[in-house]
Amino acid sequence: MSGADIEAIKNQADSEIENVSSLDALEVLRVKYLGRKGVIVQLTGSIPGLPVEMRRIFGQQVNELKNRIISLVAEKQKTITVVSSEEAVGPVDISMPGISQELGRRHPLTQVTDEICAIFTHMGFSVVEGPEMESEYNNFTALNIPLEHPSRDVFDTFYIKSPLDPAQGEQVTSHQSPVETRDRLLLRSHTSPVQIRTMKSSKPPLAVVVPGRVYRPDAVDASHSFMFHQIEGFIVDADIKFSDLKGVLEVFARAVFGKDIKMRFRPHFFPFTEPSAEVDISCIICGGKGCSVCGKKGWLEILGSGMIHPNVFRHVGYDPKKYTGFAFGMGIERIAMLKYGINDIRLFFENDLRFLNQF
Ligand code: PHE
Repeated sequence: MSGADIEAIKNQADSEIENVSSLDALEVLRVKYLGRKGVIVQLTGSIPGLPVEMRRIFGQQVNELKNRIISLVAEKQKTITVVSSEEAVGPVDISMPGISQELGRRHPLTQVTDEICAIFTHMGFSVVEGPEMESEYNNFTALNIPLEHPSRDVFDTFYIKSPLDPAQGEQVTSHQSPVETRDRLLLRSHTSPVQIRTMKSSKPPLAVVVPGRVYRPDAVDASHSFMFHQIEGFIVDADIKFSDLKGVLEVFARAVFGKDIKMRFRPHFFPFTEPSAEVDISCIICGGKGCSVCGKKGWLEILGSGMIHPNVFRHVGYDPKKYTGFAFGMGIERIAMLKYGINDIRLFFENDLRFLNQF
């Protein structure tokens, strides 16, 4: 053994460690040089056989070589680890700021719908849903809406072309009213047909709210949309009075708009309720003094309501002498616009994140 041998081993170790590319192969080299039967141990073991004057200098050289190999192996281990994790996840820069996760949230209309449903379920109502495609019978006829009523016009309701439609080839016997017999399908124009469905499938006492989409062929502008959302509510039992309607709606209005809100019932007409009333709340912007939002009136209309018409009970097979009930229906967009001060209904449907992020 000599200094020249050491130099040769050092060059070999350098290039072997330099060229290795996996942690496993590096471990093999580490054992080869630094292991219990490795090159360094052998070199150290050869020292006693050397001439005395060479032992100290040779020992030093072996020690330097050993330290060199230890640090080369350690360095290489770091680079292989970084490279393999970059292969997995891309370049690693641990000084980069973290990427925060974008959290989704419920649409403002969903939030308002849930809030309104919760107010009513706390009062004992159940939540029921119905189909958006309805029969003309459930949407109009059973609700006491006469054939000649303007809302049945094709300009006020989306009818669906169906194989039953005489215009599509169905024979209609001449002594029957064509519109009544063919019972066309349509996109429901209000949630009131779910009154019919629920009353037909269950018996009083009933206390039900119905959230859902409704459709009307309106030209789209800041306050109109061909699709919007309503919540219907109704109670049927042996002795339901108009005062029950007032009490329930007062609880609702205070829960949504605050306990200082005032309410008024204005006589109105709906074919399916008698008497009927539209309900106003004191303007939430001006408090009743009159402003541009309430059109200087001090009041804002929020819903339609009334006592369920005896003819509706007859259509579902309830005895109108035995049962009475009230019903109401409101537009969810309108409630949400008032609650949050939103001035354009189209914002709800454009899905602009700058709008949605505020709720
Ligand atoms: N269906 C009515 C509408 O869409 C609202 C309403 C429901 C009125 C129930 C009275 C009773 O305008």
